[in-house]
Amino acid sequence: MQKYFIMFGPPGAGKGTHAAPMVKRYHLKHISTGELLRSEIAAGTELGKQAKALIEKGELVPDEVVEGMIAGVFAANPDVKGFLLDGFPRTVQQAIDLDEMLESRDEYVTGVISLMIPDEVIKERIKGRALIEGRADDANDETIANRIRTYHAKTEPLIEVYKQKGIYHEVDAVGTIPEVEARVMALMDTF
Ligand code: AP5
Ligand code: MG
Repeated sequence: MQKYFIMFGPPGAGKGTHAAPMVKRYHLKHISTGELLRSEIAAGTELGKQAKALIEKGELVPDEVVEGMIAGVFAANPDVKGFLLDGFPRTVQQAIDLDEMLESRDEYVTGVISLMIPDEVIKERIKGRALIEGRADDANDETIANRIRTYHAKTEPLIEVYKQKGIYHEVDAVGTIPEVEARVMALMDTF
């Protein structure tokens, strides 16, 4: 059995930041759908061209696009202990499709680690990262505002879905990076 962890949270909550030490410590394969899409854009692929316009508006790319990428990484990594899904699922349909993908192999989601921060902190963190990483979707206020709206409208409903399944675990992601990391690791140690 492989383990499947979901790193959940609004834009800028720290999913990518905390994924790095987690995958090392628990021998997981990190799958960031945002990073996969950004590499497609950088490589100038057809998929990348389609995704670029949506990402730069702060919209989601179609479910089947990200699901195809996820399935590809699962298939290519049969020997890892598990996966850390960062930024996926992001719609109720993606969550249903993920369950189906896993059920067909007798697998299931082990746990959802949800990093929670208020909208105001999202803006601060994204503005800080814009100066360092230069991501196109960090560059203007309207895109950032739309990413936050998209999160509340399409992604937040997943909280209830995973609460119902009894696998939802919330971590207060306000605090310094080492403070939040300690909370995340304390939770991960329980799985
Ligand atoms: P994605 O790349 O997943 O972006 P996101 O969800 O908006 O999340 P971020 O990567 O912006 O934030 P993060 O939580 O990783 O925070 P980070 O650790 O960097 O997706 C991009 C786009 O791709 C989407 O908008 C969508 O268009 C598309 N997409 C992706 N997945 C999709 C899907 N499943 N379906 C459809 N479309 C999809 O931290 C942020 C900053 O804060 C950093 O600078 C960090 O150093 C700093 N920081 C972190 N923690 C702290 C702390 N505790 N204190 C102070 N600073 C901190
Ligand atoms: Mg990220």
